Amino acid sequence: MKILGIVASHRRLGNTEILVKEALMGAEEQGAEVEIMRWTNYEILPCDGLATCLFGGTGCALRDRDDHDYLLHKIYDCDGLIFGAPCYLLEVPAIVRRFIDRLFVLMGSPPPPSMRGKPAAIIIPYATRGWTTYAFLQPNLLLQELGMEVIDRALIHIQAMSESAADQKALERAHNVGSEVANAVKTGDTTYKGEPGVCPVCHDRNIHIFKDNKTVECGLCGIRGTLSIKNGEIKVNFDKEQIPWYRFSRENMYRHFTYEIKPSKDYFMRNWAMLKEKRRKYREYLTIEREPAMPERRG
Ligand SMILES: Cc1cc2nc3c(=O)[nH]c(=O)nc-3n(C[C@H](O)[C@H](O)[C@H](O)COP(=O)(O)O)c2cc1C
Repeated sequence: MKILGIVASHRRLGNTEILVKEALMGAEEQGAEVEIMRWTNYEILPCDGLATCLFGGTGCALRDRDDHDYLLHKIYDCDGLIFGAPCYLLEVPAIVRRFIDRLFVLMGSPPPPSMRGKPAAIIIPYATRGWTTYAFLQPNLLLQELGMEVIDRALIHIQAMSESAADQKALERAHNVGSEVANAVKTGDTTYKGEPGVCPVCHDRNIHIFKDNKTVECGLCGIRGTLSIKNGEIKVNFDKEQIPWYRFSRENMYRHFTYEIKPSKDYFMRNWAMLKEKRRKYREYLTIEREPAMPERRG
């Protein structure tokens, strides 16, 4: 049983690294073989937005120019994953988003079926209470896109740099996350063990209110429902039939690809000659050149 720990923080021996390592110690105690990698040690180029991965039928054009494909296959190769990232300005650092953007390639070549239901857990250290609203959004998105099952999410308050090394409660929480992932691999039981949330799929609490002011949705999972207030308590009543069709479910991904993404290729090809002609005006107007930023600083 291989458990991979990912550290999506630039800071060496910072809280994310310490907590992910503590989780891996927990996994090791359960008999796992563990490995750790820091994403910031690798090159992940930004998606170039040309969609050749989807329409060109040749995979990602950047595949041989950076480490994204290698990092993706490291995830494919593990049996369970501990994903750690610090909270940065309500979310997680940009490297996570950069990795996710490149997952557009999965539309054309989906993850191997063995990824469906593989257990994963998220560890996020943070410093300021009330500044974590979207902390789980990108990690949840990443793991759902890969088809993994998030079995725990630990949002761990740490006051200072590397202070987690001396915070027994934080270390125990992380250790336990690691044991849980290893046990989930062993038993196949991927029941969610984290703090209960509002959405039954991603367990987050970020509810989007539609313009009709009646319908609500989990912004990530796309399942809809209505709100009710009983004895002063807000309840979200999700439509039970929608739950299996959450955004990244196998069924919905097939529907999305077949009826939304794929036809857009034909549409694009049909209109390409006309668009090329129409956009010429914008090529000729105000050409955008790179200018040296703050040249006085660069000497
Ligand atoms: C650029 C930056 C932005 C941050 N934004 C937040 C934030 O929005 N909310 C929060 O609670 N902590 C925030 N923090 C604090 C980190 O989440 C916290 O220090 C964490 O323990 C850092 O983990 P690391 O040591 O692995 O880098 C921020 C830190 C940095 C450097």
